[in-house]
Amino acid sequence: MAPVTSLASTVDQRIADALSAALPEAGSASPLLRRSDRADFQANGILALAKRLKGNPRELATRVVSALTAPELIADIEVSGPGFLNITLTDRAITETLAARAADGERLGVPYAERPGTTVIDYAQPNVAKEMHVGHLRSAVIGAAMVEMLEFTGEKVIRRHHIGDWGTQFGMLIQYLIEHPHELDHRGGSADGETAMSNLNRLYKASRALFDSDEEFKARSRDRVVALQAGDEQTLALWQRFVDESKIYFYSVFDQLDMEIHDPDVVGESGYNDMLEETCRLLEESGVAVRSEGALCVFFDDVKGPDGNPVPLIVKKTNGGYGYAATDLSAIRDRVGGLAASTLLYVVDARQSLHFKMVFETARRAGWLSDEVKAVQLAFGTVLGKDGKPFKTREGETVRLVDLLDEAVERATAVVREKSGKAGLSEDEIAERGKQVGIGAVKYADLSTSAARDYKFDLDQMVSLHGDTSVYIQYAYARIQSILRKAGDATPAAHPELPLAPAERALGLHLDQFGEILAEAAAGYEPHKLAAYIYQLASLYTTFYDQCHVLSDDNPAEVVANRLFLCDLTARTIERGLALLGIRAPERL
Ligand code: ARG
Repeated sequence: MAPVTSLASTVDQRIADALSAALPEAGSASPLLRRSDRADFQANGILALAKRLKGNPRELATRVVSALTAPELIADIEVSGPGFLNITLTDRAITETLAARAADGERLGVPYAERPGTTVIDYAQPNVAKEMHVGHLRSAVIGAAMVEMLEFTGEKVIRRHHIGDWGTQFGMLIQYLIEHPHELDHRGGSADGETAMSNLNRLYKASRALFDSDEEFKARSRDRVVALQAGDEQTLALWQRFVDESKIYFYSVFDQLDMEIHDPDVVGESGYNDMLEETCRLLEESGVAVRSEGALCVFFDDVKGPDGNPVPLIVKKTNGGYGYAATDLSAIRDRVGGLAASTLLYVVDARQSLHFKMVFETARRAGWLSDEVKAVQLAFGTVLGKDGKPFKTREGETVRLVDLLDEAVERATAVVREKSGKAGLSEDEIAERGKQVGIGAVKYADLSTSAARDYKFDLDQMVSLHGDTSVYIQYAYARIQSILRKAGDATPAAHPELPLAPAERALGLHLDQFGEILAEAAAGYEPHKLAAYIYQLASLYTTFYDQCHVLSDDNPAEVVANRLFLCDLTARTIERGLALLGIRAPERL
């Protein structure tokens, strides 16, 4: 296992060397290398440099070219336009680099980050006793992809599922359960997720109705909140039943999403109860928070309401209750002080951005966040219906996540069934692939647009075989697997001595970029960049497949082996990339 230096960085280094040899006065100027349509790479750095040195860019570029000697790497280099360098690599260099990647097992030559840290990631945080909706889908899907991507770069990742398991609504729920003790019993054994949720829903509606209509029940519910907060044992035990029942439901949804959530990582709002008082005391003592109209508040110069008055972050309410902010501030103390995080990442709806801005600023003033610790909200946009409005059912209700997932799987199963003729899949296989394709499609649609943007939930588009979908990518992968199976005795092997066809070069150069794209996508919290990379890889493969026959009798054995080698590395890169996004790559479709 050895990391592989990408062709781009090798070329970059060579040109940088040539630059400083030819123009010692340039210092360490960057060649600013990028992929190009004209040649393999283009270097634009000499333009800025010429400006700085007040020289003629074309003339400087020519000097750099003469200082460059790398015949094994560079086949052709020419000065073009106002002073760009167009660089074409040797076919040998491409194949040899890819061969080194292929020899590096699962990592495909991708190096670890130089200075990995510890990221605590807050994602997949539904609310107890409530149905999960599309917003919860985004946090779960984007968060899970970030976990995988960061871990692949060598980062230590600690997951935190900050579920909404605390608050005044539990007074009402628990009181109702005390008065109707059999409402959460499971007739006939342990509940499945669906039953658990329908029990909770029924209970929620019934207790709400009573709460709104019966003043005495309302009063008893309020007392129950006090008992809960005081840690009364019977009350806590009933609260725990709500949490457990909800977890049965959450886990069933995560399971349907093909996502692993581990119980010790579920540290909900209630997990910080013991810290709330101290958090408030510290804020008050340090003067970061002040009393205002009976509440403990933090003020910000740049946060004002429509009337121009400041809008504070309320850490303790007038009635003495702690809210969402006190919990999040305590969680920061725990994650930085206890878990030694160097980065706090929150995968949360953009509509909570003001909350996090205020929470982070407060933590900074209190000294809980320092320059060594970075806090970032990976804010995501809203999921819209086909009409471009926030996604609702026809009746105007929020769409249940489970219904959406079921429908996606159903549609995908139909697609797989229709296409499966040649693959000869059994009914069981069709069902299994239907799940992998349907759930993959939902995840991919979410991950392939930049998180900050709203996107339309359009199942027709998501499960389409054409265009930028996971289905297209999965079919490309399955097609490669089928070729590899058909190859029989012919085995993939790199032949650096062979010239490459244009489609082979394009595919090869893209394969070589995997590690760089991944590093960029992980560091910037941008899974859509990885998604775009994989899609382009599948497209380049399709072009290669159309233009370069792999298993043709007319091909010499080395050509077959080398093309199989490209097929194999493409498949492994697609599989790895999809896995990082939480998407399966079935071997047959
Ligand atoms: N449970 C919240 C919701 O459903 C999300 C929690 C986000 N995380 C946090 N640390 N506040 O909107």
